[in-house]
Amino acid sequence: MALETDFIVIGSGIAGLRAAIELARTGARVTVLTKDRTDESNTEYAQGGIAVALSEEDEVGLHEEDTLNAGAGLCDAAAVRVMVEDGPRYIQELIDWGTEFDREGGRLTFTQEAAHSRRRILHAHGDSTGKEIVRALISRARAEREIAFVAHAATESLLMMDGRVRGVRYLDPLVRAPRELRSRAVILASGGAGQVFLHTTNPQVATGDGMAMAYAAGAELADMEFIQFHPTALNIEGAPRFLLSEAMRGEGGILRNREGERFMARYHERAELAPRDIVSRSIVAEMQRTATRTVYLDMTALEPRFVRHRFPNIYETCLRYELDITTDPLPVSPASHYCMGGVRTDLDGRATLPGLYAAGEVACTGVHGANRLASNSLLEGLVFGARAGRAAAAEEGRVNDRFEAHDAAMEDEKQLSSGVRASGDVALAVRKRVRRLMWERVGILRSRESIRRALLEFEQISRAPLALASRNFLNVATLIARSALWREESRGAHFRTDFPARDDEYWRVHSIVRTGADISSSAELDFNSVIDDK
Ligand code: SIN
Repeated sequence: MALETDFIVIGSGIAGLRAAIELARTGARVTVLTKDRTDESNTEYAQGGIAVALSEEDEVGLHEEDTLNAGAGLCDAAAVRVMVEDGPRYIQELIDWGTEFDREGGRLTFTQEAAHSRRRILHAHGDSTGKEIVRALISRARAEREIAFVAHAATESLLMMDGRVRGVRYLDPLVRAPRELRSRAVILASGGAGQVFLHTTNPQVATGDGMAMAYAAGAELADMEFIQFHPTALNIEGAPRFLLSEAMRGEGGILRNREGERFMARYHERAELAPRDIVSRSIVAEMQRTATRTVYLDMTALEPRFVRHRFPNIYETCLRYELDITTDPLPVSPASHYCMGGVRTDLDGRATLPGLYAAGEVACTGVHGANRLASNSLLEGLVFGARAGRAAAAEEGRVNDRFEAHDAAMEDEKQLSSGVRASGDVALAVRKRVRRLMWERVGILRSRESIRRALLEFEQISRAPLALASRNFLNVATLIARSALWREESRGAHFRTDFPARDDEYWRVHSIVRTGADISSSAELDFNSVIDDK
């Protein structure tokens, strides 16, 4: 017997929690499913902060301009406007709900990050901004009686009925068996797919399941080729690539090569504060030039007490690796960090399938274009999480049919995964292979030849019987690679060594992928406005 609720939210980062709170306000029953602990998400690890035009020296129009510039001609202007305009009031709401952003003399303090023309990044407990926001949102969500959390529940597929999304199929953590949960609508807020690359700043949960499930169910995905690589992940043999926040460079940290030379000024006039894609590629070039695997982030010129106070989490974490950030240059290299693309949505989080909504990193509103401005992701999750929750409550509250779902994806899985569901070894081997191929052939620098070779191997891997989670993982990697092959230019975070120039005449369009169809292009992402315009 399948379980029922009114709305399912998948994911408990900033977008999922904010959507759940919005839905619960209408009195609807909301079930939040999370793959790991309730407080484990990409949001939890966000260090630098949340960008918002709230300081006296700032303006919404400047935040808009910086976002559009970073997006390299591919931002959806209406989505950017919504985010920067609505941002301040949603931040105020977070403060009203108990979020403790850092202050001096009672006034909010703002830090600097790359490609921002003003100091506009709010932060909390120094470098634990995401953790503090999640704490406040979970505490607020737990006060809503209508919200139930189910942790350690990995969602595998969407349930469809008459062309509508009407629930999910997930692995029940208690009975360790698949279960159906039916609902009026599903809000995907499951985060990104950084884990499909060998080196990533993302936690284990960021495997792109939401994108894969939406794709399998027939929804459109957009801009999958645009993957942001963070320039400065700690690079120590055998250790995870721990993020060293861009705010460290914002506060005066500098990058040096192994000869101790400050090299970024040779690559860009804004040196360490050049856009992220440029810093990442410059680091790769410098590592190649000096035949090394790292460059160094140097904070030693800053006052040690300030550094310890401003970056307490980074300070403590680096000490575990016997690095004192106030005295030691830190070995760093780029790592995959953020997916600009994802499930195509309109300005209210509606995906192209009825009954499906998406917000946060899993979604593509077009807000980030080809390259996300630092610290815009938390703001996007907050604003569009709330909007998606509101739209779902308004529209799907009226859908009142009996829950008799037909799980097409479940049938697929029976055929595809017979006999291998329990094989953890296969899953691990597939992931390892895919992650390496993505890093080496579809990574920071890509070419037709390297991407094609990756795709050929993916094709071979896909012929083996795979469990659904592995297939989802492989599918997300394949979609990124196919989209990267399709875009024969370089723009923002997507760099093709065989097409190094940006081509606005032909390629100022979004890539759209959908099951069973070739990649197509669209000048706009808000499909409602596209329809209205006709
Ligand atoms: C950072 O602190 O550098 C990460 C912030 C972001 O990715 O927006």
